[in-house]
Amino acid sequence: MQLKPPYILRGHILSPIADADLGWRLLHEPEGALAVDHNGLIVWSGSAKDCPMTLLGWPIQDTSHLIFPGFIDSHIHYPQYHVRAAFGADLLDWLERYTFPEEARFHALDYARGVAHEFTETVLAHGVTTALTFSTSHTEAFLALTETAHRRGLSVITGITAMDRNAPDTVTRDLGYFREANAMAFAHLQHFPRLGYAITPRFALSCTEDLLDSCGTFVAAHPDIWVQSHVNENPDEIAMTQALFPSADSYVDVYARHGLLTPKTVLAHSLFSQDHELEQMAIAGTSVAHCPTSNTFLGSGLFRADRHLHADIGITLGSDIGGGTSYSPFATMAEAYKVGRLNGQSIAPDQLLYWHTLGSAQALKLDRVGTLTAGYWADFCLIDPTCSPLSEVRWNDRKDLLDGLFGLMFTLPESGGGVVATMTAGQTRWSQL
Ligand code: GUN
Ligand code: ZN
Repeated sequence: MQLKPPYILRGHILSPIADADLGWRLLHEPEGALAVDHNGLIVWSGSAKDCPMTLLGWPIQDTSHLIFPGFIDSHIHYPQYHVRAAFGADLLDWLERYTFPEEARFHALDYARGVAHEFTETVLAHGVTTALTFSTSHTEAFLALTETAHRRGLSVITGITAMDRNAPDTVTRDLGYFREANAMAFAHLQHFPRLGYAITPRFALSCTEDLLDSCGTFVAAHPDIWVQSHVNENPDEIAMTQALFPSADSYVDVYARHGLLTPKTVLAHSLFSQDHELEQMAIAGTSVAHCPTSNTFLGSGLFRADRHLHADIGITLGSDIGGGTSYSPFATMAEAYKVGRLNGQSIAPDQLLYWHTLGSAQALKLDRVGTLTAGYWADFCLIDPTCSPLSEVRWNDRKDLLDGLFGLMFTLPESGGGVVATMTAGQTRWSQL
């Protein structure tokens, strides 16, 4: 399906929307309509029969598929496209044996361009329209990704990865290189309205105090930028961090002391955060990225959604490819449900959908994506619930909407995730049709 705005798309709409009383709720319009103007913005959404008269002259398109908001992958590593399914290692071993050798290849612009292309096509094919992604420490990797994402209409937030110790020379860069590359990369992104810059200290372990200071100074000078990193993922990583930063009260405190805990900071994992660390994140307005397929694959541990919710910390969902195993947002939501069960909880399917769409947008302070509401970008995907015999049976047997949504998480094929087309700013960017 090749869509070009303006148009009215009629179909079955399913989207979390903001709600003044409840925070958010699910918009469900089996006979819905979405009006997209020539700028690629949604100007109206709701039941087709209520479509305003003023829009009646617009071209109409019909779809038999479900219309979901584009998914937000709030923690992913684009250079780890070829690192998936690496056998038998936990975090630090996995980084050394599989991940650093692959990331070392990104100093070559042509190699980086090839992977940036594979990555961009793959995330779009899975219904993801915004990604907060790591790159590598090399300028070439950053440029390859941002030029590709811009050309293909994928919204990315990324930055030069800061790392100057505890890894091979092929993937670390000294403070001088980082300062220059970071400033250049930040300036470069100012020309692209749908790309954002994130200061990206890989994790405390890979950074000297001076490098973290430099990151914090840059954030202080540019308070609108994002910060992304990892925290409290693995017991060995935590013990080493404590040894390297003896004056910090905790792992979270290492980031706080360097000015890196902000309302636009997203820390991945947070599996072993103590109560006082949660409090410190909550006070700063920092969010966490829950990456369940990575946490189970690497055997890192189980995320406690209940503790983070109780501390009033924004939760987002991420694939964490290549520690994570699936590009499909439905597979990530299914795994988050299973992790919840191992903690004795049953996370509702609409809550999972919220975390992967509007909830992620709110946590990232992105006020134009994550929901199919007037004034937002027309970033959405079309999902075919009948794309496989298993999903078709489960969808047709649904007891109600939430039961149907829950069934999709466990029955849509992991590869492709039932996505038939993905649009950003109203334009088709990827389509099977
Ligand atoms: N901690 C530091 N780097 C990484 C990474 O690439 N993946 C994961 N899962 N954790 C990290
Ligand atoms: Zn990660």
